[in-house]
Amino acid sequence: FSLKKYNTFGMEAKAKQFVAVHSTEELQQVLAQHPNEKKFILGGGSNMLLTQDIDALVIHIDLKGKKIIDANDDFVWVEAQAGENWHEFVLWTIEQDFGGLENMSLIPGNVGTTPVQNIGAYGTEIKDTFVSCHAMHIATQEIKNFTNADCHFGYRESIFKNEVKDQFVITSVIFKLTKRNHHINISYGDITGELAKNGITQPTLKDVSNAVIAIRQSKLPDPKELGNSGSFFKNPILPKADFESIHKKFPEMRFFEVSPTEVKVPAGWLIEQAGFKGKRFGDAGIHKNQALVLVNYGNATGQEIVAVSKNIQETIFNTFGIHIEAEVNII
Ligand code: EPU
Repeated sequence: FSLKKYNTFGMEAKAKQFVAVHSTEELQQVLAQHPNEKKFILGGGSNMLLTQDIDALVIHIDLKGKKIIDANDDFVWVEAQAGENWHEFVLWTIEQDFGGLENMSLIPGNVGTTPVQNIGAYGTEIKDTFVSCHAMHIATQEIKNFTNADCHFGYRESIFKNEVKDQFVITSVIFKLTKRNHHINISYGDITGELAKNGITQPTLKDVSNAVIAIRQSKLPDPKELGNSGSFFKNPILPKADFESIHKKFPEMRFFEVSPTEVKVPAGWLIEQAGFKGKRFGDAGIHKNQALVLVNYGNATGQEIVAVSKNIQETIFNTFGIHIEAEVNII
């Protein structure tokens, strides 16, 4: 079974077996019927790089549905099933004037995988509105509730990438959104610029969403046109003392203080400075508008993308003494 259509990098890889599940009951049955088989859980396929065929039962999570589960004068609680497309879900919340997700418009992927890496963009992260999620324990098929605190969210991190990696399938997520007094967050320079360009001074949720969409479309390749998985690397976070000695050598280096003792450096800047932006090695390349994104021009293999990423990592380390870590899950 070809997985090419199920991963946004557009990698040709085969699954030994493939099944799509549309309800928690179906998921429970499939897991119970295959207790001893290797399993591979597939959501939107937007944050992974397949480098080989999958010698496992691939279970595609296609649970649909979204609804309001509670509300008061100020807030609304909405629950979305794991297989809902993230961006369509965000647009649905904005249509009803529910605030909190607008800065994360147009992120590829499905709702169920958003907590895994605590997706974020333009000054917000999923953890800011995430209340809890339901997840099925693969071994016992019991449903467990994970609260925001249970998830140990960090920058592109959660319990699902660490302590309970590969043990649970997230089936639905609950978000708490604002009904009024929205916290419009336009602190990110690009958004301010985009709104100003359109003469908007009092932005609505929809205006912010539209600005984010415009920025993303100008910088980030559409996976439907050019295979990619968004940012391939995480922005490295350095202890302040280490950063300061590197910064002396490279005074033009961009940086953001993330805590009194830590500094985040944009990996896109490092990659661009190292001369990789827009470069192409066969069908594997570095995007011309955003150096943090590796792209598949058509027939690149997973190994070819990995080779390019290693080349970038080594060059960055040799040039700046900074190690950059992949954000994408390499399989
Ligand atoms: N930069 C360059 N050259 C580049 C790219 C970036 O010099 O080719 C510099 C920019 O000038 C800017 C800084 O790097 O000063 C930050 O760039 P940008 O605003 O494009 O964001 P990013 O740090 O590269 C992160 C997220 C994105 C998210 C944006 C906006 C990570 C790994 N990536 O990218 O998330 O959309 O911020 O908030 O944190 C993703 O995770 O897949 C993703 C796209």
